[in-house]
Amino acid sequence: MAKKIVIASGKGGVGKTSVAVGLAQALAVRGRSVIVIDCDTLRSVDLLVGAGETLLYDWGDVILGRCSLDDAVCQAGGICMMTCPHTYQGITLKKMKELMSALDKRYDYVLIDSPAGVEMGFILSCIAADSGIVVSTPDPVCVRSVGTTANEMGNYGVKDVRLIINRVIKRDLKRSRMLNFDSVIDMTEVQLIGVIPEDDRIRFAPMGGKIYERRNSSYRAFSNIAARLDGESVLLSYYC
Ligand SMILES: Nc1ncnc2c1ncn2[C@@H]1O[C@H](COP(=O)(O)OP(=O)(O)O)[C@@H](O)[C@H]1O
Ligand SMILES: [Mg+2]
Repeated sequence: MAKKIVIASGKGGVGKTSVAVGLAQALAVRGRSVIVIDCDTLRSVDLLVGAGETLLYDWGDVILGRCSLDDAVCQAGGICMMTCPHTYQGITLKKMKELMSALDKRYDYVLIDSPAGVEMGFILSCIAADSGIVVSTPDPVCVRSVGTTANEMGNYGVKDVRLIINRVIKRDLKRSRMLNFDSVIDMTEVQLIGVIPEDDRIRFAPMGGKIYERRNSSYRAFSNIAARLDGESVLLSYYC
């Protein structure tokens, strides 16, 4: 059975999609079969894996019987992905669960990229997930929304929720311009699974770069988080 992990945050623009794609690619390099399900109607996973505007079908088309699962799954950037329909019209929680069950035998990991907020897209993202990752940047506004989101995930049956602190800048951390990690953990009340540094190469990924690549400063952070998800015991160090 696939491990189904929802990636959420509450606020937009904190790095959910970048984390979903980077982690998927890191898990794929470890030999796992991985699919990312874009649950944000604004769609961005396709751009980050270099599939651009080439996709004919989305997972909504599968649910509504307009195409097969194979038609909607795209292979790009070393992983599989399915893009999101432009609206959730006609999508029910039951149908979403059925779609997720269909992925169970095919993949080791299903990473579900939630939109911001805790509304329909978030609920659809959570409904079949067995565990979750909340992504926070180290600032108080984001951290507060992440605490609330983690609680909401629990309400929709997501049992094991972990925290990733993203976009950490060492210099700012030292000068107390960012919340330190202990404060973020205390405020969210979620157990930390990893820390990802600010990395220009992540920002440039939609322009043709890669999120998970050896020369990227976030490479080790993604590798370590992937290993922890895979059950390996990797010590949490200052930066990853
Ligand atoms: N660790 C990081 N370093 C630098 N830029 C990042 C990092 N994580 C995310 N970003 C940038 O932040 C913006 C929002 O990221 P995205 O993954 O789309 O967030 P979300 O899915 O939460 O809306 C993008 O421009 C992305 O490139
Ligand atoms: Mg996103």
